[in-house]
Amino acid sequence: MAIRNPATDPAAIPDAAALLRSGRVVAFPTETVYGLGAHAFDADAVERIFALKVRPADNPMIVHVGRVADVGAVAREVPEVARRLLGVFAPGPLTVVLPRRDTLPDNVTAGLDSVAVRVPDDPIALALIEALGAPIAAPSANRSGRPSPTTASDVAADFGDALPLILDGGPTLIGLESTVVDATGARPRLLRPGGISLEEIEAVIGPIERGEIAGELARSPGIRHRHYAPRCRVVLAAPGQIDATIAAQSAGGARVGVLCRAPLAGQTALSFEREAPGEIAAFGRAIFRAFRDAEACGVEVLIVETVPETGLGLAIMDRLRRAAAPE
Ligand code: TXA
Ligand code: MG
Repeated sequence: MAIRNPATDPAAIPDAAALLRSGRVVAFPTETVYGLGAHAFDADAVERIFALKVRPADNPMIVHVGRVADVGAVAREVPEVARRLLGVFAPGPLTVVLPRRDTLPDNVTAGLDSVAVRVPDDPIALALIEALGAPIAAPSANRSGRPSPTTASDVAADFGDALPLILDGGPTLIGLESTVVDATGARPRLLRPGGISLEEIEAVIGPIERGEIAGELARSPGIRHRHYAPRCRVVLAAPGQIDATIAAQSAGGARVGVLCRAPLAGQTALSFEREAPGEIAAFGRAIFRAFRDAEACGVEVLIVETVPETGLGLAIMDRLRRAAAPE
């Protein structure tokens, strides 16, 4: 396995494109998290992603295209709401679910009649799509259930030598995945909160539906599965409860770590302590990073401060709740 940085190694992107063309899987950065990519029209290569990630076959992938004009290569129709959203948020951390083209392999969409598409806002991702000359199917480059990777070494930690190449673009800008909006129904629906806030989306297309439709087969199969969990237990605590939670969790002798926004008042010696003050975006970037770093410190219980569910806070709390959910 090689980790190569296109900024200092100009052959890295052409080599990655050649690997994709020959049916291999390569990892690359996006502005959200790293992706594990395959040529979107190569069913065998897409199958390899499922095997590498140990990903349930019912969980479809996002297809990455280089520009809005290329969305039509994988979608047979782009409804007006999707067109407006893409006009404002592409390239960027927005994924729209659209009616799929039949030419796309069935495994990319897990047999659904829809396809999730986005235009990533990252120079390496865009250069790779351009060099390949085709869309790239890519889920996040973590093993299923693990925290999403925000650096090339996170990807290497999950896959090691199973990958021929990881393109290194440094730490990702947002550190949380894209927002997924289903535009196939009569009314648009938020399937996964992410890097673009619900408020920003509703400012463009008006109020939208939220979450799964009760009693219906899950629209976004990926959100059924337990997710994003580090190898330690995640315990959520409101801002005023951090010190009390540390005391309670430490009482039994567990190795405790904390991720919070404001500096801690107490004097407890912790196995891991990370503060992400200031803008909520800094806290968003810190979540998956802290999960993996706390693991590396041997933390058994990671206490994480909760945030209000507005703006990016909705995506943050979604990831935190899933990580804290019992198995
Ligand atoms: O930021 C991101 O979105 C990253 C980067 C690499 O682009 N990708 C990512 O992919 O997070 P993944 O596979 O980890 O999450 C994709 C989500 C899953 O919840 C999946 O179920 C949903 O999108 N999805 C994909 N295709 C869908 C479809 N046709 N209908 C509904 N949901 C879909
Ligand atoms: Mg994922």
